Amino acid sequence: MSFQDLVENLKTMIVSHRTHDEDGFRQSAEAIIRSLNVQNRPGEARSIREALRLSETKSGKRAATVHPVANVSFSVLTRQVPGLISFVQPPGQRHLVLQKETTRSLDLVVSEHQAVNKLAESGLMPRRKLLFWGPPGCGKTATAQWLAQQLGIPCGVVRLASLITSYVGETGANIQKVLQIANQTPMVLLIDEADAIAKSRDDGNDVGELRRVVNTLLQGLDSFTASHSIVILASNHTHLFDSALWRRFDDVIEFPLPSEKERLELLRYLTNGIKINGSLATVAKGTAGCSYAEVERAVFEVAKSVVIENRTSATGAEILRASQQFRRKITSATSRRRKPTVR
Ligand SMILES: Nc1ncnc2c1ncn2[C@@H]1O[C@H](COP(=O)(O)OP(=O)(O)O)[C@@H](O)[C@H]1O
Ligand SMILES: [Mg+2]
Repeated sequence: MSFQDLVENLKTMIVSHRTHDEDGFRQSAEAIIRSLNVQNRPGEARSIREALRLSETKSGKRAATVHPVANVSFSVLTRQVPGLISFVQPPGQRHLVLQKETTRSLDLVVSEHQAVNKLAESGLMPRRKLLFWGPPGCGKTATAQWLAQQLGIPCGVVRLASLITSYVGETGANIQKVLQIANQTPMVLLIDEADAIAKSRDDGNDVGELRRVVNTLLQGLDSFTASHSIVILASNHTHLFDSALWRRFDDVIEFPLPSEKERLELLRYLTNGIKINGSLATVAKGTAGCSYAEVERAVFEVAKSVVIENRTSATGAEILRASQQFRRKITSATSRRRKPTVR
């Protein structure tokens, strides 16, 4: 095995580990062991085999693959679409606070997917092509991961930086590839910042390529027939979307900024375990306009200083201050005029 092959096998092992792909993990470990034996390094080969054996005993041979529906090796998948999709590890138990309407829509997605076979008997499909829209930090990405977790399928996030290339035709080909993968393999596929590939074809700056990219996306969604996967386009700029896209979605789900009620619920959840002097209701009121992520950041900042300063409590006013300070920094960073470039 060349050094390059060794690196490739290690990469596959890491991805397999993160995606709970036991088969992929074992296969790459075996490849490394074989190669060490071939290179006359039986000691090292033995020690890796022993580590593999121990890891299997420790994990108690948990599910062979993360996915109960199809026995798919995600290392193979990742090799098929190198760099285009990253499979993200489910974040463990996370409490998402969502507005009623959003929760209702998501519950429908889950219940339809759980009844996929029953629906199929009547020639029906669960909703699989979704648009998540709303400002940053309101749970679009977190919900895609949550959905995957609920359905016991992996969550693949499309890496836009790799998907969009400057070579004519390649972006379209990449879109086709990732949608095909999700069509063949059960997963939640999240295309974040989808406006980058879904902009109206009437855009004044159209250079032909944009038209091709959007056409490919439309065709890809049309030929997305698998009932075991969900494709989510997420965006904060849906007004830029091509009008032909809308009717392709099975549902359009809004992730709005939290109201005072949701901010209070999140604050209560996040400060559980920290003694807070003062009223969280006042903090909820004072954080109007903040996203969930901003509220979370303020609480974590205060929690860190409580730990570092060996304190036993924090105050609501501190949380409010932390959120306001960060907002001020963002405002100043975004409003500062760029200096004109001197040529
Ligand atoms: N609705 C929510 N409830 C609880 N926490 C949230 C929510 N929305 C966002 N967060 C927190 O903020 C982080 C970033 O949110 P994210 O899902 O990436 O937002 P978006 O994709 O809409 O920009 C999440 O990982 C989570 O910790
Ligand atoms: Mg996101």
